[in-house]
Amino acid sequence: MGMIETVRSVVQFKPLETDRTARRLATAANVDDLRAMARRRLPGGVFDYIDGGAEDERALDRNTEAYQRIEWQPRVLRDVSNIDPSVSVLGLDCSIPLILAPTGFTRIADPEGELAVARAAARAGIPYSLSTMGTRTIEEVRDAAPGGQHLFQVYTWKDRGLVAELIARAADAGYRGLLLTVDTAVLGRRERDVRRGFTLPPKIGLETIVDGALHPGWTWKFVNSEPITFSNVAGRSVGDGGGTAVSLAAYTAEQFDQALSWSDIAWLREQWDGPIVLKGIQTVADARTAVEHGVEGIALSNHGGRQLDDAPAIAELIEPVADAVGGRTTIIADGGIRRGSDIVKALALGADAVMAGRAYLYALGAAGEAGVDHLLGQFRAGVERAMALNGTPTAADIDRSIVRWRGGPAER
Ligand code: LAC
Repeated sequence: MGMIETVRSVVQFKPLETDRTARRLATAANVDDLRAMARRRLPGGVFDYIDGGAEDERALDRNTEAYQRIEWQPRVLRDVSNIDPSVSVLGLDCSIPLILAPTGFTRIADPEGELAVARAAARAGIPYSLSTMGTRTIEEVRDAAPGGQHLFQVYTWKDRGLVAELIARAADAGYRGLLLTVDTAVLGRRERDVRRGFTLPPKIGLETIVDGALHPGWTWKFVNSEPITFSNVAGRSVGDGGGTAVSLAAYTAEQFDQALSWSDIAWLREQWDGPIVLKGIQTVADARTAVEHGVEGIALSNHGGRQLDDAPAIAELIEPVADAVGGRTTIIADGGIRRGSDIVKALALGADAVMAGRAYLYALGAAGEAGVDHLLGQFRAGVERAMALNGTPTAADIDRSIVRWRGGPAER
């Protein structure tokens, strides 16, 4: 092959790859399709870490199932020629009422990881949350998506100095809000990971090699990109940036502060001037206490069903929490969102916005950054369609009158 040919084939590689991805994505009509693609492309252990939940996975299943039990009471003959699904929450402009949830170890789904998701979110006008357990740094995410609105999620390490430093870095980098995760004193028992002996970063052992050979695309990228580390806390905690594979349960047991309590909110407030959201509120009582502590927002969340099995389904929590504290703090519903119409249902029940995490990890595992663009486009189209078909042209028009629980009383 002559020089020109070589150059041409290299130059053509990218468009060819892009075409293939576009063709594949054209067949993904919904999140379930993206999940199926991710399952084919990712090694089993990686897919199960993303897809799985705690113990019998009832909390995981019920998060999605609860949205399926909500029926519409659509209104017709309302002018829906202009649909505006945008909202402003926590001082953030959201093109649809969605914030991308923080997810740990995003680079196991795709080497670009958090950077790909943050860029796609910025393009879509949707805020992105970076996890303390992220595999790209606070500053890398800012630089990759300078126009984006980023939130930073904190777990409280026993080493409070480390947490204070991370928060200061997030403030310097222009992050717009802080999410304190309050549902992870200890790690939930994810039995799929237990069975597989799954570690982070994924260990290269005999089983992984076999699994990797069955997923050559993923393995090629994994081996050819820089090692996956807990990049924000690298060098600061046991088993962190040295590439040592650790079980997540052992790592969190050692690093996270099990003594975290309501009195620590004041400490957090001293570290951070902007909005604070408590992520992992699961009862009306705690929602009230959160408001007494003056936090700007609460994320109703059972950590995607990954922590306490049989925790309340998030959709079922929204209405009682909104009745108790609606208007006094921002209510974000995190968990079970698989369609744009689920976002509209959550708003109808009283949420100000929703969060989704797993859905974008499926998209990222299915097709990288283009997959996340595809997903966010579908979420937006789904929100707009549900609004048009329910006769609610703006987010402010979405109220409880358009939904009911299946089998419950019609009309109100
Ligand atoms: C998890 C942690 C990292 O759910 O948030 O796996």
